Order: sequence, then structure tokens, then C-alpha cells
Amino acid sequence: MLKTFVTKPIPGNFLTDLKNQGYEVSVGEPLEKVKGYEALLTLLTDRVDGDLMDLAGPTLKIISNYAVGFDNIDVTAATERGIVVTNTPSDEVNVAVSEHTWALTLSLVRRVVEADEAVRRGAYKGWEPDIFIGKTLKAKTLGIVGLGRIGTMVARIAKGFGVGVVYNKRSPEPEVEKELGIKFLSLDELLKTADIVSLHVPLTLETKHLINKETIAKMKAGSYLINTARGPVVDENALVEALRSGHLAGAALDVFDNEPKINPELIGLENVVLTPHIASATREARDKMGMEAIAAIVAIDKNEKPENIVNPDVWEKRRK
Ligand code: GLV
Ligand code: GLV
Repeated sequence: MLKTFVTKPIPGNFLTDLKNQGYEVSVGEPLEKVKGYEALLTLLTDRVDGDLMDLAGPTLKIISNYAVGFDNIDVTAATERGIVVTNTPSDEVNVAVSEHTWALTLSLVRRVVEADEAVRRGAYKGWEPDIFIGKTLKAKTLGIVGLGRIGTMVARIAKGFGVGVVYNKRSPEPEVEKELGIKFLSLDELLKTADIVSLHVPLTLETKHLINKETIAKMKAGSYLINTARGPVVDENALVEALRSGHLAGAALDVFDNEPKINPELIGLENVVLTPHIASATREARDKMGMEAIAAIVAIDKNEKPENIVNPDVWEKRRK
């Protein structure tokens, strides 16, 4: 039974179940206490590099990341050491994130958060024809950057709103294009065309600050930016500048460059909607994430191959 380490409790009974199966589980200690553990259940706020893996020592066999993204883990360092890394993708998470993308989009174009704030502070004095005028979604164009599982689901929902979809991705997806009636564009063309740009790429060296001063300048005047991917994909200073100047009409962000710190300039702007990295926070998604994160540890314990290995090359040379 793998000695398992988790920095914070996770929702549901998953850790209790693991203990009941006879696993020794440490919950709530800082990562510095990881020495001698065999399994690490990490959250996206846990930074795991080679030094930390060495601190855990040669006992460490699996890092089970309780997230879809795994930019918090040095996967190359794990592979070099024979450590299996897993993540928790699922339909439930894809649905949760794509629904949140639309919640943010609707909040932004219909100014829901600004209007709610005005009502709460007593500013509503009766119906007025010219207050909180937003934009309609129908017949607008959504530009999806990164057409993976989540981006594809965002595109599917777009149909219901009568929103046209263009997308960019490293290699085009002709099948999905045909099925959903969406169109591949180069990133530059997408930025020029889209009324709303939504980011669905993982954070890598190539996508860090993909949305920067130059790329924002290419975005259509009066367009909106939605980010439910990872904060560092956007250069926040460049974004603030474009929101101030009016080049962009608004932005809705679930993730930030330097979490949990929020650029104070963003907080001062009315044309932004900010949520605290909750796109996958549905009961359904969290349950599935907990189940998958635990299943990966149990699989390694039984010397079976877990379902969602992010470094499959490690399997033949994994630590036993
Ligand atoms: C959340 O951000 C995730 O990657 O699961
Ligand atoms: C608005 O409430 C309307 O009736 O047009």
C-alpha cells in the first residue's frame, strides 16, 4: 500500500476511502515534508520540480495530479527519474469548464456582474432605456484558441446561441470542422475575425504570453477575451492597457498570471469579470477528479497501468 501524501484535503470521501483500504495517507502537511512517500496526490497549486522529487527520494513512484493541466509538474524530470505522472481529464471536467466559459461570456456581454453590483448598492431607481446596454451573442463570431476536448465542447454549445466558430490549433481537425460547421484559421486571422476570443490551450513554453501586446493589437476593435485556461497564457499588463484604451470591450478571466495575486489594475476596471479559478468547480467534475486521482495511485500500487498517464514513455522504465 503506497504511502500517500496530499497537501490539502480534496472534496468527497476519496482520501478516507483510501485510508479505509489500508493506505497510510498524510493530508495537510507542506510539500517539504514529502521525504519517504511513494505517492503524491498533487493540486495545481503544488509546484513539483526535480528537486522536490529528489527530496521525496527513490521511494516516489507516482505523482497523481488532481487537475487536467499539469504545468505545475516538471514532467521531464519525473520521466528521468522513472516516476509516473497522471492527470484527471474527463467529460465532467470538459462540461464544467465549457459551461463556465459560457457563463463568463454571457456575464461579460450582458454586463451581469456590473449590473448586479449596481442593484446591490441601491443604484436601481426604475427601468431606464439606456442602462447596462450590452451586446447580443447571436450571429457573433467566437474564436477558439486550442481545439482540444474543452475547446470542442465550447464550440458545440456555441451552436445553441447561434454563434459562429473559428478556431486555431497546431493541426486542423477536418472531422470536427465538418461535424460542427466550424472553420480553421491561422492565429492572426482568428484574432482579426473573432468578436470573442476564448483560450483553451495548455500552458507550455510556446503558449506563455501567447496573448501579448502584439497579438492583442491584431484583435478586432471592440472584441472580448475569455481565459479559462492558464493565467500566464495572457500578458496581463498588455491586457489592462487594451481594456483601458477601449481597443478591447472587455475580458473575463478565471485564471491569472500570478495566482492568487490579482493585478490591482484589473480589479479597478468595470469591463472585466473575474472568477477565482473555479471553471472546473462543479460537484460532478470534482467527484470525477477525486475518483481518477485515487484510481491512479491504486493502479500503481497493484502494478497496473493507470488510465491517464501524461508521460507514457516512463512505463517500461518506471520505478518499482
Ligand atoms: C484546472 O485548472 C485543471 O487544470 O483541472
Ligand atoms: C423590457 O422590460 C421590455 O418589456 O421591453
